[in-house]
Amino acid sequence: MALRVFGIDLGTSTIKIYRKGQGIVLDERNIIAIADRKNVIAVGDEAYDMYEKAPANIAVTYPVRNGVIADVANMLTLLNHFMQKIFGSKRPGAADYIVAVPTNITEVERRSFYELIVNSNLKVGHIKIVEKPVADAVGAGLDVMTARGVMVVNIGADTTEVSILSLGGIVLSKLIPIGGNKLDESIKSIVKRKYNLYIGDKTAESIKKKLACAIPQVEGSVKVYGRDVVTGLPAEMEVSSDTVYEAISEYLYAIIDAIKIILERTPPEISSDIIDSGIYITGGSAKIFSLDELIHKETELKINICPDSANTVVNGLGKIMEDHKLSTLADSLKPKTFVR
Ligand SMILES: Nc1ncnc2c1ncn2[C@@H]1O[C@H](COP(=O)(O)OP(=O)(O)OP(=O)(O)O)[C@@H](O)[C@H]1O
Ligand SMILES: [Mg+2]
Repeated sequence: MALRVFGIDLGTSTIKIYRKGQGIVLDERNIIAIADRKNVIAVGDEAYDMYEKAPANIAVTYPVRNGVIADVANMLTLLNHFMQKIFGSKRPGAADYIVAVPTNITEVERRSFYELIVNSNLKVGHIKIVEKPVADAVGAGLDVMTARGVMVVNIGADTTEVSILSLGGIVLSKLIPIGGNKLDESIKSIVKRKYNLYIGDKTAESIKKKLACAIPQVEGSVKVYGRDVVTGLPAEMEVSSDTVYEAISEYLYAIIDAIKIILERTPPEISSDIIDSGIYITGGSAKIFSLDELIHKETELKINICPDSANTVVNGLGKIMEDHKLSTLADSLKPKTFVR
């Protein structure tokens, strides 16, 4: 590997980049604002500020959907901008790139991660791919190289990936299209139905961060602003924690169902390892209050909510590039493998 190495976790809501020897050098919303279909006016957190506030000629969009690159052209523009931000005015030299990719995707979708780097403005040495669950487990501080099985559940923005790992590889995994965004949407629609209040995605997300609790909890509420569905005028309402629970619980149970399906298919020797060490929960949505309590109640297993859960994948890429004992976890993809 070259002296300069970057690890990239292209998430649905955020992009995180790790630089060898430095740590996380970029953590921004993975979003782009384009005016009149051609002029990029903002990227990342700055574009997110414009989200749901921009006039009709400005499109503010997320190029990654359900964990895969849905809008290649805009993702390429974003990557070029983000890397330029990291390099600053210095002319970037060649670097190696390690990219985390979801496991259950098609060959074409997988290839698009590789091609993104190849087609960027970057001077590229080697490109390596790491399966997301592997990076995730390493970032969560687990030893994945031994024959001891581990279970990791990453609850992100658009997806939840449930995986069983052993001996540096994936034994079983399941990717479901449920994550924090579904919870936000559900909060939005319940607030509209119950309070006749139309709220935006950002407000729904902030209600979730303040009140979302996986078990019915003691009373709590937040004041929110939106538009009254009936009068069309700006209005303010108090949204209660039981309303938020009502909105999110069915999705939390869908995540638990996916965990149970994987547990049922887990080879018995690995099951006994999991009884010992428990389930590791990662991803930004792992921060929902009392999530450990609910999953424990449903599975009777020990639940570990990983600290800094939103960064486990990118930190795992970091460990893989810093520790040569882990280098076998990254696969090289050779350009000639691909038909262009
Ligand atoms: N304190 C919190 N409580 C609840 N949810 C949170 C909290 N903080 C962040 N989240 C949610 O975590 C999600 C982002 O997590 P993460 O960064 O792991 O996703 P991602 O990697 O962009 O998405 P994906 O892995 O699905 O592609 C968002 O839906 C966000 O609302
Ligand atoms: Mg993610």
